[in-house]
Amino acid sequence: MLRRVVLQAATHRRRRPFLPSSIYAFRQCSISASSSSSSESSQNSNSSFVEHLEGPNQSTETTAQSSTTISIDRSGLYNPPDHSHQPSSDSELVKHLKGIIKFRGGPISVAEYMEEVLTNPKDGFYMNRDVFGVAGDFITSPEVSQMFGEMVGVWVMCLWEQMGQPNRVNLVELGPGRGTLMADLLRGASKIKKFTESLHIHMVECSPTLQKLQHCSLKCTDKDDADGNLEKQIISKLSETPVSWHATLEQVPTGVPTIIIAHEFYDALPVHQFQRASRGWSEKMIDVAEDSSFRFVLSPQPTPASLYIMKRCKWAEREEIAKLDHIEVCPKAMDLTQNIAKRISSDGGGALIIDYGLNGIVSDSLQVWCLLLLIVLLTCFSR
Ligand SMILES: C[S@@+](CC[C@H](N)C(=O)[O-])C[C@H]1O[C@@H](n2cnc3c(N)ncnc32)[C@H](O)[C@@H]1O
Repeated sequence: MLRRVVLQAATHRRRRPFLPSSIYAFRQCSISASSSSSSESSQNSNSSFVEHLEGPNQSTETTAQSSTTISIDRSGLYNPPDHSHQPSSDSELVKHLKGIIKFRGGPISVAEYMEEVLTNPKDGFYMNRDVFGVAGDFITSPEVSQMFGEMVGVWVMCLWEQMGQPNRVNLVELGPGRGTLMADLLRGASKIKKFTESLHIHMVECSPTLQKLQHCSLKCTDKDDADGNLEKQIISKLSETPVSWHATLEQVPTGVPTIIIAHEFYDALPVHQFQRASRGWSEKMIDVAEDSSFRFVLSPQPTPASLYIMKRCKWAEREEIAKLDHIEVCPKAMDLTQNIAKRISSDGGGALIIDYGLNGIVSDSLQVWCLLLLIVLLTCFSR
């Protein structure tokens, strides 16, 4: 599976156009980690340095307090800005991530970090720009050739035929990017009127910017409201098909046969990472080091995601697990697959899920791409 985590940053971009500041902060981590005096440490297969968490610092400092209080009115004095030795170039997203870690009083999971980096409403990678195509950070199959969307369309039409050509079908796309796949599908199918007239397109997309691009790719317009309905309907002019947008699959109306397409969507879902330690599988977490860079640490006790690693290991051969020091699990992918299966078994339909990667347990799929360059960031992220 190619997983692309591109960390966006505001303040560094001007000075380091290819290296967002959150990535920069991670790079610094390798220095801080290797010079750390942590009690227990280990090197993973990708040479990333991970520290084990120590227990909470028990030492309390008592400060001598004077019994008399002298108060000074400083309101008329010059107030100098706070002095700090840290570079003040952290992007808003990095500040936000560090804020979460500080507020929690401890590290966060790789999954939480990844989710913030990709889909934080304000600064998330997907949220406010077009990241696809030759001018973007990466390219996907529908952007390479229109045949990709057309072939998926042939698959959808065959399924519709097999279902007995129902009059109403929800055609759902999870994570439609620029909307290129769906546009090619509708354009290719537009001559088969009975098919396109049965469709209602549901785009499941979290990014407002990409929703606008999809609206444009599908040549959407508001339908003239001759019936006086309060809710306006949006129609794709490519095939005169109604289109709706949703943030999650759960929001797509039920009760109608449903065909679901997901191309490189699972790839964007946050993963939890585990490392084999003396006490068993420990979750890799992300913390802030003393020099203010990010660093990996291992959770000292089982985490909620530990349930998913047990589930994942049940599906694998013992010999496969015995060879591994690192395992990645994606609870959101497991839950989503279950929801898709439930919906199809209750409403009828089918799902086509396309992603790329290993057919087996994944150890570490995180990659960072920026403007089509693979960025090497803390060696464990560079696979
Ligand atoms: C790797 S892109 C794939 C784009 C498209 N399918 C293609 O092949 O070009 C992932 C897509 O999923 C969307 N996405 C990521 N996480 C999401 C989430 N949690 N909910 C809804 N959409 C999400 C992104 O905004 C983006 O449109």
